[in-house]
Amino acid sequence: MSTPNFQHTTNNAGIPVESDEHSLTVGPDGPILLQDHYLIEKMAQFNRERVPERVVHAKGSGAYGRFEVTNDVSDFTKADMFQPGRSTRMLARFSTVAGEQGSPDTWRDPRGFALKFYTEHGNYDLVGNNTPVFFVRDTIKFQDFIRSQKRRPDNGLRDNDMQWDFWTLSPESAHQVTWLMGDRGIPRTYRNMNGYGSHTYMWINGAGTRFWVKYHFKTDQGIDYLTQEQADETAGQNPDAHRQDLWQAIDRGDHPSWTLWVQIMPFEDAADYRFNPFDLTKVWPHGDYPLIEVGRMTLDTNPEDYFVHIEQAAFEPANMVPGIGPSPDKMLLGRLFSYPDTHRYRIGPNYAQLPPNRPHVPVHSYAKDGPMRYEPNRVGAPYAPNSYGGPAASPQAYGDITGWQTAGEMVREAYTMHREDDDFGQPGTMVREVLDDAARDRLVSNVAGHLMQGVSTPVLERALEYWRLIDAKIGDRIAEAVSPR
Ligand code: NDP
Ligand code: HEM
Repeated sequence: MSTPNFQHTTNNAGIPVESDEHSLTVGPDGPILLQDHYLIEKMAQFNRERVPERVVHAKGSGAYGRFEVTNDVSDFTKADMFQPGRSTRMLARFSTVAGEQGSPDTWRDPRGFALKFYTEHGNYDLVGNNTPVFFVRDTIKFQDFIRSQKRRPDNGLRDNDMQWDFWTLSPESAHQVTWLMGDRGIPRTYRNMNGYGSHTYMWINGAGTRFWVKYHFKTDQGIDYLTQEQADETAGQNPDAHRQDLWQAIDRGDHPSWTLWVQIMPFEDAADYRFNPFDLTKVWPHGDYPLIEVGRMTLDTNPEDYFVHIEQAAFEPANMVPGIGPSPDKMLLGRLFSYPDTHRYRIGPNYAQLPPNRPHVPVHSYAKDGPMRYEPNRVGAPYAPNSYGGPAASPQAYGDITGWQTAGEMVREAYTMHREDDDFGQPGTMVREVLDDAARDRLVSNVAGHLMQGVSTPVLERALEYWRLIDAKIGDRIAEAVSPR
């Protein structure tokens, strides 16, 4: 901790206080007086020290850094931060998903990979994970999925039966579950994992041409993982191991970095691609759309105050700047609403004014008032249009078309299937073609270990069938590993 050279304690109003150690009483043994304003301020402030924890991704760590462009991708996007030669300040927060604030960093879980870039056109937030896919493909299932991963309402316990019950009734989870049960389900440190935008986004270049894009931040520290046994041991010995590792690395000047690569799909390819390119449970094989280098992000500055800069950080996928847009991914479209809504509840309606969330460009918003507002409204008249010189919207910043054509009856239906869409194909490819023998052994052991902790017989049987559909051999091996000897 730094040692500030303060002269004396003050209360929150800057007034010197009389004592750090003694309340004001009538005689040394007497009752405490209501007029001890400082004591009351201390107690009241303490009672209000917490904001609600994030409903997911509650345990996290973060740091500031910079993003530097290393390749010219201006043919694909006009986004200011991706133009040649640009360096943009940024904030990153890494997290686990299901655990609470105090939970161990080394529980098996995807890791959040949330980035905020302070660009010349305002904040660009890319709120991804360390995995390129997800458990479900429709926003309406996200809440159920998360509840199956968190605690039961009756006894307050986490429950593997609940997890496998949901997964096996939701076969679209197979790709993400295969990934999670493999080595990447427990990174060695936050520095040793990749980050993925996961969703497909739109990029728009200066000529107004649209592309579909997927982001891959590959760790320059190298991918590394913990075995289940190492992770369990670390969870007991140092639940904050990953927070500590990140903080200490940056503190000693060993600044972690990630190289950003993108896959670019021409706009017209989407309709006929072999997989639905907007389905979040699928990747685009590298052979179809090769990686193109963009730049490097480097984390160089630890937060001065964890609560101020990391706990109050508010990332929102809806923060997209000119040159970048959403896609028809039904998960992404739901997320555009969800995040600002939860921020208003968690940290208040003026959360965008807080230090980590403040854009590094002037704000000319017509928003005004509300709890904890401290930025004056500087737009002349508090409404638009006005005749007093207030700001006016700039459609020209975005170019001609930033959406896509759509029409049809209102329905509640699954995505249109593309030629090779099925839930078990890509995870099967991962098991057979990406993992080596040792990684497959660990996968079998991790799944079997998880299934042997409190999973009921009908759910277990479904789980074995689910694994056989991913890969018959792996399914049989898991069945053998869980069968009583
Ligand atoms: P490639 O052989 O080109 O890519 C395989 C990728 O798998 C690697 O590049 C690496 O991603 C990732 N990978 C390596 N080891 C593991 C592991 N233990 N757990 C999870 N991922 C790992 O083949 P394809 O692009 O054709 O993809 C084949 C399969 O690989 C997919 O079905 C998918 O399951 C998986 N995969 C594909 C990714 C993609 O974007 N195409 C990304 C990640 C996984 P990275 O280079 O990003 O570290
Ligand atoms: C955090 C909702 C899917 C990545 C959150 C939070 C909510 C939420 C409410 C808490 C935010 C806060 O309190 O600050 C949803 C919904 C989803 C969804 C409704 C699906 C429709 C995803 C997906 C990813 C993701 C697919 C990754 C690709 C994250 C990350 C955080 C987060 C990284 C933590 C952000 C931080 O560090 O502050 N999500 N989420 N989420 N989510 Fe999602």
